[in-house]
Amino acid sequence: MTDGATPPPPRRLWGGRFAGSLDETADRLNRSLPLDQRLWPQDVRAARAWVAALRGAGVLTASEARTIAAGLNRVAARLDGGVAADAPDEDVHTLVERLLFEEVGELAGKLNTGRSRNDQVATDLRLWCLDAVAEVDREVTALGIALIDRAEHGIDLLLPGYTHGQRAQPVRWAYVLLAHVWPLARDRHRLGAVADGASELPLGAGALAGSGIAIDREKLRTALGFARIAGSSLDVTGDRDFVAEFLFALAMIALHLSRLGGELINYASSEYGFVRLADGYSTGSSLLPQKRNPDVLELARAKSARVTSGLTGLMTLLRGLPSGYSKDLQEDKTYLFDAVDTLLATLPAVRGAIETLTTCPERMAAALDGGLMATDLADGLVASGVPFREAHELVGRVVRLAEERGLTFGALPAHEVTAIHPLLQGLVASLGSWEHSVERRATPGGSSRASVARQIEVLRSALAGQLRQAPGGQIVLP
Ligand code: ARG
Repeated sequence: MTDGATPPPPRRLWGGRFAGSLDETADRLNRSLPLDQRLWPQDVRAARAWVAALRGAGVLTASEARTIAAGLNRVAARLDGGVAADAPDEDVHTLVERLLFEEVGELAGKLNTGRSRNDQVATDLRLWCLDAVAEVDREVTALGIALIDRAEHGIDLLLPGYTHGQRAQPVRWAYVLLAHVWPLARDRHRLGAVADGASELPLGAGALAGSGIAIDREKLRTALGFARIAGSSLDVTGDRDFVAEFLFALAMIALHLSRLGGELINYASSEYGFVRLADGYSTGSSLLPQKRNPDVLELARAKSARVTSGLTGLMTLLRGLPSGYSKDLQEDKTYLFDAVDTLLATLPAVRGAIETLTTCPERMAAALDGGLMATDLADGLVASGVPFREAHELVGRVVRLAEERGLTFGALPAHEVTAIHPLLQGLVASLGSWEHSVERRATPGGSSRASVARQIEVLRSALAGQLRQAPGGQIVLP
């Protein structure tokens, strides 16, 4: 037990072989506790399961197992109270072990029978990823739902849809917003696959070659909720594919946020003026009093660089490593934790910006210029049997005429339009409203009211439910 006077010296797990102690510079380089202390809940959880496995293998008596388990509970309580913050230990595994020694004395030395930090860290990290995947998934889902809610209220709002940054065809505001929800639905799928890949049990692998003690790994697997037992102890101690897969999924989410952010930055600009960000999500300029800056969206765009570099960083770290554990792997957490933290900070802010922005229907309407009906005219000619290429050419002449005269299609002299093609004047007269134009695109996935309503329905169900682990450990995709 600690008396609180002087902190005990850090316990080294490998002291016996060495006469001298680690140089201070080497120790500073080697230490990972500042980073990996956040793995303590997973480390304690895995330790509890390991106690049961050792009991099952006859390494611990029932009373020893009870004492260690109770000790681990007290260790968890101390860690929860923040004892890790200024602990001197090398890493989280050493820390948990030292605390256990303080709680139960020399008996703690039995816990590491057949266990190595190599299978421990792989186990902790996989457990951590499974929790983090679920948390990121919840945030992705919440953002998707916020976009759909806004879309539902924006179904009557019309604005130009853009390609190449040019006004192209009239569309619904809902349709534009939903185009950013589909990527999030795909992200959820990817997260499910990541969770499934991570759901493999390393514990029992030992340092690299398995355990000489008859551990029931199947029981261990169910106790920790993994879907499978890793097929090779050598592979699983050095395998960080699941981290790379998670980072890829995170990089894609960040990429999607950057595109959403980028588009909304345009729409919020003075030039477009289609949306206005709420005060809570806009910042002022230190010099220009009139400015209203979309910093949240700009940062959402920027964070993608950071998360993507995490993915390339990790993959660069892994390349060329032999199978089994190498200390290089200690660095995996810098990329992983940073990417998860970055997204968990970005997603709620973007969601808030979406939930609170206001739309400016007049500015959207003002951007709908007559030329956006050109495709409708061409479609009209096609319906009367004119080949599309010819229709395109004929309507192109109408567009040029309108541009030269500075007139809308409807205001052009009838005889000049008829001279281009006899059917055109009638088509111009029957173009109808913007709403009519949008409703003409009623194919599945199109921008008509019914198509948009259908998208909302499909996306709501894609965002329903949570990623979860079935009792057998398998990851259930929503
Ligand atoms: N701190 C190490 C890591 O994060 C734990 C595993 C160390 N294993 C070892 N044999 N030194 O990777």
